[in-house]
Amino acid sequence: MVQRIPEPIFNKYFSPANEPDHFIISDEIRKSVEFTRHNLLDLKPIRTGLNLILCKNVLLHFKEEERIEVLHMFHDSIDRGYFATEQTQKIPPEMQDCFEPVVANAQLYRKVS
Ligand SMILES: C[S@@+](CC[C@H](N)C(=O)[O-])C[C@H]1O[C@@H](n2cnc3c(N)ncnc32)[C@H](O)[C@@H]1O
Repeated sequence: MVQRIPEPIFNKYFSPANEPDHFIISDEIRKSVEFTRHNLLDLKPIRTGLNLILCKNVLLHFKEEERIEVLHMFHDSIDRGYFATEQTQKIPPEMQDCFEPVVANAQLYRKVS
């Protein structure tokens, strides 16, 4: 996956780790990341005013009605911005007024209302 990172960004933010094909991300990036436990099915936004939510290989574990509730919570959490998920996950028809596709070849959506 790191092969897909543009070379100038890779060179700036990654250094080799002790194992082959393993890399350490720079402290500059690491310090800007906050790790928090969040049960999505609580349906409470972890925060609002977000510009991007990436949620990959998680919604597939939920029932369709749970997926819709979580997507509503994501929608409420985003200010002006985007939601991205894995290639096999689709936005349910009930949510198509809330998120519009940005590109044809990826599951990247823009909040619309
Ligand atoms: C197949 S893994 C995907 C991990 C990672 N997102 C990826 O794509 O490599 C599914 C993840 O969903 C998380 N998960 C399952 N139910 C969840 C819930 N109710 N709230 C938050 N995360 C949940 C699990 O903890 C697990 O890390």
